[in-house]
Amino acid sequence: MYMLIPYGKNNMQVDGQTETPQEALPPAQRSIVLVGLMGAGKSTVGRRLSNALRLPFFDADQEIERAAGCSISDFFETYGEAAFRDGERKVIARLLKGPRHVLATGGGAFMDPSTRALIKAEGLSIWLRADIGLLMERVTKRPTRPLLKNNDPRATMERLMAERYPTYGEADITVDSNGGPHDTVVRQILAELDRLGVKAAS
Ligand code: S3P
Repeated sequence: MYMLIPYGKNNMQVDGQTETPQEALPPAQRSIVLVGLMGAGKSTVGRRLSNALRLPFFDADQEIERAAGCSISDFFETYGEAAFRDGERKVIARLLKGPRHVLATGGGAFMDPSTRALIKAEGLSIWLRADIGLLMERVTKRPTRPLLKNNDPRATMERLMAERYPTYGEADITVDSNGGPHDTVVRQILAELDRLGVKAAS
């Protein structure tokens, strides 16, 4: 007969052995969550990765826009960043509670402690790391990001890199996006996932 004896905050002791009461989900059952700065390629890579893995794809920013009925830019202008983060947290929580999928998050999502905790608990996180030159080249092509609508978007991006890279580094997998084809990044991710036993759904 097993005796469950409370052991520490999160652990139980079972006949002398220690185990967590709620087993962590194995990688192959987790949604795959792309994190990283604006312009890193999360949406494009995410969509292609979802095709390769035969999983549904969601873009958190698009889901927020759909829920709010307006663009991210308008949302920031009308309600401010704090309200956006609140909506972002709720949308990502809803998506991660649903069936397994590939999720591209907005650049600030993984910086929010509760969103990050949820992604760590329910997902398999992949940081798409890119250098400043590549990020600026990409975000300049589509100048819609509210955080970069100022006199010196490059300085803003550099500040965000300094602030966020240590936290993005907590992701399960880091893949460098060096400006080559997106499919190269997808292949690198698939190789990393394969090592963790994550393969295309059949
Ligand atoms: C943000 C990134 C954006 C969007 C919002 C805030 C950020 O998403 O969520 O403008 O804080 O870095 P992308 O990373 O998809 O551009």
